Order: sequence, then structure tokens, then C-alpha cells
Amino acid sequence: MSLLLYNLLGIRPNGFGLEIEDSSLKAIMLKKTRKGAEVVSCAARQMKKGIIQDGQVVNKQELANEIGGLLASAKPRPIKSKFVVFSIPESKSFIRTIQIPKMTREEAVEAVKWETEANIPVSADKVYLDWQVIESKEKNEEVLVVAVPKEIADGYYESMRLAKLFPLAAEVDVIATIRSLTSEQEVKTTLIVDVGADVTSVSVCRNQIPYFTSSLPVSGKTFTDALQKGLGVSWEKAEELKAKYGLGKMQKDDMLYNIYNPLLENLAREIEKSLVFYADSIDPNSQVESIILSGGGSLLRYMADYLSKRIKGQVILGSPAKGLGISKDLPAEVVRDICPFATAVGLAMKANDCL
Ligand SMILES: Nc1ncnc2c1ncn2[C@@H]1O[C@H](COP(=O)(O)OP(=O)(O)OP(=O)(O)O)[C@@H](O)[C@H]1O
Ligand SMILES: [Mg+2]
Repeated sequence: MSLLLYNLLGIRPNGFGLEIEDSSLKAIMLKKTRKGAEVVSCAARQMKKGIIQDGQVVNKQELANEIGGLLASAKPRPIKSKFVVFSIPESKSFIRTIQIPKMTREEAVEAVKWETEANIPVSADKVYLDWQVIESKEKNEEVLVVAVPKEIADGYYESMRLAKLFPLAAEVDVIATIRSLTSEQEVKTTLIVDVGADVTSVSVCRNQIPYFTSSLPVSGKTFTDALQKGLGVSWEKAEELKAKYGLGKMQKDDMLYNIYNPLLENLAREIEKSLVFYADSIDPNSQVESIILSGGGSLLRYMADYLSKRIKGQVILGSPAKGLGISKDLPAEVVRDICPFATAVGLAMKANDCL
């Protein structure tokens, strides 16, 4: 059934956002309101190893089953919508800004294809390509290109179909994160540090356009691992202590200081490297003006304060629900801990734009 028909009938179906990681799934459902949108349902689920490996779907049917379980478990009510925008991992995608001469649309399609091929290690016929002009200059156009290997995207798409879902779009995760944490009118150059369980993604954006993305190995699990080894406790206990005490007092005689300091130093240095790389190699005419922490790992208490002091610049905790309403019956802990849902919120915003 065409989407147009829904509009003709005056039916406004809601879509939802589905973030898919190697070891976790998250879903957010937004409802359009007169003021914009409101979070109405939310779900998160850990997945066992081996269903997705290194960003590639290994077992499509099992992923479909996990998605079914996730949607049924959504709070305060199950997500029954069939319309989904799902994520593709940045680590498996290619995001590039390229320059092409000004030309007709038909010529540009070919030019983007060849120019992208010259910039990525995969041939153009093996990727899905999407692009948009981000700046029109006198003779050239600056174009943002996103390329995803068909082999990768098809694995996710087929899993959606097995889960009896209707995919409206697939989106690279960092692009969705940027949408939920920054506004379209945002002219400040912003660095987003998404501290996940397995990986920390760094992106620099302006006007919601990503100009640079990279991944760091320091992540939430690295912190738990250090705590487990440092205190000689179980993984579960380390997770519990991490959530309870955060960075502790962060003074030199403090046990937590000695455990966490090398990791925080590593993270701070990588952030500094990204700032320098952006200023030197991407845009010498601008510099990063705002740093936002997101992802579950950023909930580590005092991390934002520590990084602000260490890199002598304000680091703030991202708020994916900024500008969104929150349904009154959403559980309090979901509202409090909405930070890890930044990507899922961005995908849900896209789903509502599609319908
Ligand atoms: N209150 C808290 N304090 C410290 N760490 C926390 C807290 N809550 C969650 N975390 C950590 O956040 C991490 C999970 O974050 P998130 O949900 O963003 O990861 P993910 O998206 O599943 O993983 P990835 O993006 O790496 O694939 C875990 O390492 C978890 O221990
Ligand atoms: Mg994540």
C-alpha cells in the first residue's frame, strides 16, 4: 500500500526508531503532537553474542526474533507499529564530503558515483549510495555522501522483513545521533562523543552535517573491565559499582582514581586529537565550539566534569529528549536514563518525517 494512501485516508501511522548494535537493541516510538513530538514508548535489550558480529548480521532469523522480543517489551506499552527506521553502524559505512563541479542533476549522479569510488575502498556497484549538496560555491558543490556496502545493509533489511516490519529507511547511526542531540539551526561546530558499551564514536558536525567521524576503543566495557581487574570483583559487581560510585573523588590517593585515570587520559587525548585533526585537516577556518557526551558510558558520574577540566573546555551531557515532550506514563527511570537512547530518538524523528 502506498504511503500516499495513508495520507489520503487521513491516517497518520507512527513509525519507530530501532538502533541495532552488535550486543544490544533499542527502540523509541514518538507520537506527533501539536508542539512537535513526544516519546511514548521505549525499549532496550541485550543480545547474545554471534547474532551480529563486527557490524554484520550473521543470523537474520535470530535478529528478527530479538527485535520481536524487544518491541513486545517496550514500556509503558508494546510497540505495534510496523514502520521502522533502523540503524547501520558507522564502522561499516563510509561518510565523505566531496567536491564536484556544478552540473546538471543527471551529470552529478555520475560524478558523485565516480568521486565516491575514488574515496572509498569498495567499488561503487557494491554500495548503496545516498548524497546531498551541502554547500553551493561559485564553481563547485560540496556534497555529503553516505555509502553502505550492499552486503551489510541487506543483512539488516532482510532481518526487518523477517520481523514482519516495513523499513521506511536505514540510516548510519552517527547521523541519527547528531539529529537528536543538535538542532538544524545549530551553527556551532559540535563534537559528539558517544560512549557506548563496545565502542566510542566521535563525530564533528555543523548544521547537522557530519564532517568527520571516527571510533575509539575506550568504551563502557573498558571501564568495567578495569574496575573488575583493579578490585578483583565479578563483572556484574563491577558494573554495579561503576553505576553507583562513578569516578569517585578523582583525587590522587583514591583507588578509583588509579583505576580510571589511564582510561580517562586516553579518552581526553583522543578527543584532543580529533579537535586538532578537524582544525588542521577538515576545516582550518572553524574550530569545535561545543563538546557533547552521549551514550550509556557517559552516565559515568562526574565524567563530563572531569573531561571539562582536563581538556579546558566545557563538555556537556547530551539531551536526546531536548525539544521533545515525554508522555506522562513513561516510567521515571526511562526519563532519567534517556541519554543512551540518543541514536534511537534520532531514528524515530526520521521515521516521523517519513510518514
Ligand atoms: N549509570 C551508569 N554509569 C556508568 N556507566 C553506565 C551507566 N549506565 C550505563 N552505563 C554503561 O553504558 C554502556 C552501554 O551504553 P550504550 O547503551 O550507549 O551502549 P550500546 O549502544 O549498546 O553499545 P555500542 O554503541 O558500543 O555498540 C555500558 O558499558 C554500561 O555499563
Ligand atoms: Mg551505541
